Amino acid sequence: MQRETGRGRQIRRVVVATSNSGKVSELQEALAPLGWQCEGLGSVTLPEETGSTYEENAALKACAAAMATGLPALADDSGIEVLALGGQPGVYSARFGNVGSDVERNVLLLEKMRHKTDRRAKFVSVLVLAYPDGKLEEYRGEVTGQLLEGPRGEGGFGYDPLFLPDGSALSMGEMTLEQKQAISHRGRALAALLAAHGA
Ligand code: IMP
Repeated sequence: MQRETGRGRQIRRVVVATSNSGKVSELQEALAPLGWQCEGLGSVTLPEETGSTYEENAALKACAAAMATGLPALADDSGIEVLALGGQPGVYSARFGNVGSDVERNVLLLEKMRHKTDRRAKFVSVLVLAYPDGKLEEYRGEVTGQLLEGPRGEGGFGYDPLFLPDGSALSMGEMTLEQKQAISHRGRALAALLAAHGA
């Protein structure tokens, strides 16, 4: 596999290689200015996220979808890193505590953070756009903030209700999709992808 950065090729259709409906909405909305036709995964099954970095996992997912469909495929791997927990759950955010739902993971995170005064955290997103010939483009975005003491807001997904971005009065769960996109880790990675492709 070869890695390229920011060298936009002509694309008409792209597979959005994620089964997370929250991410699908964010990626589709953000790609609109490029005029790319976004395709779902259809019957393609994504591989296990066996990598130890966001980059490796995003590349695994994007490459599998690109090879299976013959189309360029875009995958995101992301997570939340909590300073007081040594950067956990990080790349393992989706599997944190081996519990089944976002709400259960949020309860567990709040439990681990009980009595902690340093509540600094950051979200990280790495986007990989993979082409069927094996070429890869990689884009990273981050947003820093604080973990709240309890959930705020019904919007977004995952850890959004627990995260107060620096400089924001709203938690990420209280934001509209547009507000979140303007400041979020995924929004920043997407902005870099859009710029590289001339939008
Ligand atoms: P993965 O990228 O599919 O491994 O999953 C990343 C996990 O990190 C998600 O399941 C969420 O728990 C969390 N996460 C990633 N991005 C966000 C976000 O924008 N908001 C809230 N949680 C997120």
